[in-house]
Amino acid sequence: MIRPYRPDDLDALYEICLHTGNGGRGAAHEFDDPRLLGHAFAAPYAALHPELAFVSADGEGVSGYVLGALDTTAFEDRLEREWWPAARERYPLSDNRVVQHIHSPPRTDPALVERFPSHLHVNLLARTRGLGLGGALVDTLLEALQDHGSRGVHLFVRHHNVHAIGFYRHLGFTEVDETPEKLAFGMPL
Ligand SMILES: CC(C)(COP(=O)(O)OP(=O)(O)OC[C@H]1O[C@@H](n2cnc3c(N)ncnc32)[C@H](O)[C@@H]1OP(=O)(O)O)[C@@H](O)C(=O)NCCC(=O)NCCS
Repeated sequence: MIRPYRPDDLDALYEICLHTGNGGRGAAHEFDDPRLLGHAFAAPYAALHPELAFVSADGEGVSGYVLGALDTTAFEDRLEREWWPAARERYPLSDNRVVQHIHSPPRTDPALVERFPSHLHVNLLARTRGLGLGGALVDTLLEALQDHGSRGVHLFVRHHNVHAIGFYRHLGFTEVDETPEKLAFGMPL
């Protein structure tokens, strides 16, 4: 079942983010604080864009999510005002790569945002992959983005995440940019 995000799903978002990090392999071994990864990459979407957050759930609980931002530039501006300051106090600068992201978050390339203003993240726990839920979550978000007037959506995926790359291509995303670390996919809406 796919349904809109509710505030009591927040702990599940943190958990899923941790267990699907690192291109789906799970990142729990990388972090002493199990909430750090989700605090950077999942919770801000639920806080700032709850209307663009959806979860999949079954008898065992929440199994996945899709999170979106309508206007990436405006979202990054809001993060700078409303999310990162408290996160920086909670996680003082260290050599951890996620803490460094919180202290110096990169801005998305304006040329990419111009073509595809919205962006998304989709993650499913391993037990529910391959059942059509990832595609259904993305479709749900694309519809919500269209309802909110989005012109297009982009996302990033690391080169080693070959399953996700095949998945996005299958859904109709096309590769629009590339760095040594990751591919950018886009879709006009
Ligand atoms: C990426 C992810 C969300 C995809 O979800 P999924 O449940 O594995 O994929 P689905 O079963 O929903 O697949 C949807 C469709 O894509 C197709 N598909 C999935 N993976 C594919 C692949 N690698 N190549 C080609 N087609 C693929 C499916 O056959 C299905 O096709 P259909 O709708 O025509 O039957 C999920 O595997 C996941 O969360 N992985 C770990 C975290 C991750 O990597 N997230 C993305 C980070 S960028």
